[in-house]
Amino acid sequence: MHNLKTSVLTMCNHKGGTGKTTSVLNIGAGIGLSGYKVLLVDLDPQGFLTRMVGIAEPDPAASSAAFFSPSFTKHAVSPTPFNGFDVIPASRVLTSQIKKLVRPIDNLWVKEAVEVYDEYDLILLDTAAAVTVYSLGALVAASLVVIPVTPEMQPVHGAERAYESARIVRKALNPDLIAPYFLLTQTDARKTTHHRYRRYLRSRYQTVLKIEIRTNAALARAYDAGKTVFECNPRSRGAQDYANAADEIIQILGLDPPTAWV
Ligand SMILES: Nc1ncnc2c1ncn2[C@@H]1O[C@H](COP(=O)(O)OP(=O)(O)O)[C@@H](O)[C@H]1O
Ligand SMILES: [Mg+2]
Repeated sequence: MHNLKTSVLTMCNHKGGTGKTTSVLNIGAGIGLSGYKVLLVDLDPQGFLTRMVGIAEPDPAASSAAFFSPSFTKHAVSPTPFNGFDVIPASRVLTSQIKKLVRPIDNLWVKEAVEVYDEYDLILLDTAAAVTVYSLGALVAASLVVIPVTPEMQPVHGAERAYESARIVRKALNPDLIAPYFLLTQTDARKTTHHRYRRYLRSRYQTVLKIEIRTNAALARAYDAGKTVFECNPRSRGAQDYANAADEIIQILGLDPPTAWV
């Protein structure tokens, strides 16, 4: 069965290095492996996800930058197939065109654009840490916001600001948005600060994913090799954690079983 409505998951934290791109890639891959049709969209002007999946210098007209052009058509921006999911790459043009995108209405283009890819069950949007028309547009388009957060002071601070941004966007532009979920990443059982910030987040917010992503070298290795952790090292803790996180997110989104299961 094809899901009647495409879900859009936006990965966001106003602090860099907290595992957003790693999570987009591996949660996307995990959900793709479960049989769903998955599209990843890179909205980070620095294009880490794009380079990771081996797209060197995408044509701006065929990248996510084209979402903001009046001549945007689905035909022009066709996703690149990767193993188990498709990708719409980022272009450097995202950086130069940002100066022109200053009207409130410019926050709506991501939503308008991703709506045309309705053959997918799930679209994951990767964003940069900065608060820009791209990260706000990604929140406007979202049905679920996931905030990857390492349990340390600065990432938690950035995570709480991202939570607030989502709340403001819900009030103004996206009333259907549910409370964002925090995803603890790069956790290390030996670090006492990690226990402290984990307790803080779990006691203060009801929406913290049960599954945590532990620090695992296989994740960094896969990232550097331009592969998902499932391809690189399917027995690693990183692969286990992301497979479990993918399952938990499927539950939260209430995705219908994919065709292969019926
Ligand atoms: N659970 C993890 N264990 C080990 N390394 C990780 C883990 N998650 C992310 N990393 C590494 O941390 C760095 C930052 O991750 P990234 O996903 O690019 O963060 P962001 O997109 O939030 O800036 C990358 O080098 C990545 O390989
Ligand atoms: Mg990133």
